[in-house]
Amino acid sequence: MKTSIILAALAATALSAPAPAPRPQDVDFSGLDFSSDDLSTGPDFGTTKESIPLSKPATSDIVEDIKDDPATPIRKLRRDVKAILKRVPGDCAPQPINNGPQFINLEPVPWQEAVEAAYPPTNPSTLGPYKKVFDGLRGSVSQIGYRGLTTIHAYDINACKTLCDKKAQCLGFNFYVERDPSLDPGDLCPNPSIITNYKCTLWSFPFLAGAADNIGQTRRQFKVVIAASVGYVKPYAASNLANFTSYGQDLYGSINAPLLNGDNTYLGVKSYPNADVNVDYFEPAVCAAACDAQTAYNSRHHASTPCQYKACNFFDAYVVLKDGKAQGLTCTLYTWTWADSYAVNGGQVRSDGVYKVANSYTYTNSRLPAPPYIDTCPV
Ligand SMILES: *[C@@H]1O[C@H](CO)[C@@H](O)[C@H](O)[C@H]1NC(C)=O
Repeated sequence: MKTSIILAALAATALSAPAPAPRPQDVDFSGLDFSSDDLSTGPDFGTTKESIPLSKPATSDIVEDIKDDPATPIRKLRRDVKAILKRVPGDCAPQPINNGPQFINLEPVPWQEAVEAAYPPTNPSTLGPYKKVFDGLRGSVSQIGYRGLTTIHAYDINACKTLCDKKAQCLGFNFYVERDPSLDPGDLCPNPSIITNYKCTLWSFPFLAGAADNIGQTRRQFKVVIAASVGYVKPYAASNLANFTSYGQDLYGSINAPLLNGDNTYLGVKSYPNADVNVDYFEPAVCAAACDAQTAYNSRHHASTPCQYKACNFFDAYVVLKDGKAQGLTCTLYTWTWADSYAVNGGQVRSDGVYKVANSYTYTNSRLPAPPYIDTCPV
């Protein structure tokens, strides 16, 4: 265990309901085995329209990953990831004209002030199932689960909401106004005139205000800046899965289970995307496959208890947000079904950031009876 992680653990304070008796399970949110510390994605500047396909893992990849790296209460060290190469900006190509309201000939800060005066942070706190999580910011969302961008021709949050409604796996949208160059800035056009663009990005993971940290960039001499940025997220629509029944929906936090008759029902945690399985949307079926793969793994590795092994019968699929940014999909696996009242772990304040739990959904094995131990010796 790295020293920094030990210190972080010492600094940890649970964000939860009044502290119950000590629990055997402590998911170290700062040590979850995601594939990288920074999986932030989002549109490149200059993008006016794009749609990003989902990365759907094959069940066989989930099973292979459990074989190599089973869920265990003991944390593993992270593995390396390859760098993501980004497009290099072009040169003086005309950028698409936006015929929405324009704020021309304004320097960055006066432009932001003019946009904010026109579109104050008074957007509704809810839009159907969506809940507003920030308004009036000068940054756009950058995190995992980017699903695409559409340029709209007015300050129209409902148009953006409709795009999210229609997009499979969309769990949130960010609508903002951007001060863009009319030409792709280059040697011959270091500081082109302004286009004001109204941009809608879609996300397949939830976020909080901290995710809206993309405050623009300087392209040659042109300053791209953002104003009147508003973000909405909606709950996941859970349904039963093959072999697992939806049990708890959008719970306060993740499950923190006590011992059951002196026995630890917690099997461990898996996080995605990881070095072997890529998933960039909230998909509890990935946890279901992991749960079954873990049972199969345990059936092959129980030398210390030759007559029985632990079965995965319940899991909690949730999202850990670090400083407002989703880190990916996390699955905690259990031998026993725990009621919603155990979903008390709302997050942790650690030395390296504030961790919050969102989208906590539980599922229980529907292939009953499903005993926590499977006996292998004849009686
Ligand atoms: C459901 O469980 C049965 C029995 O264990 C198994 O054969 C089947 O493959 C499972 N379905 C899925 C989708 O995992």
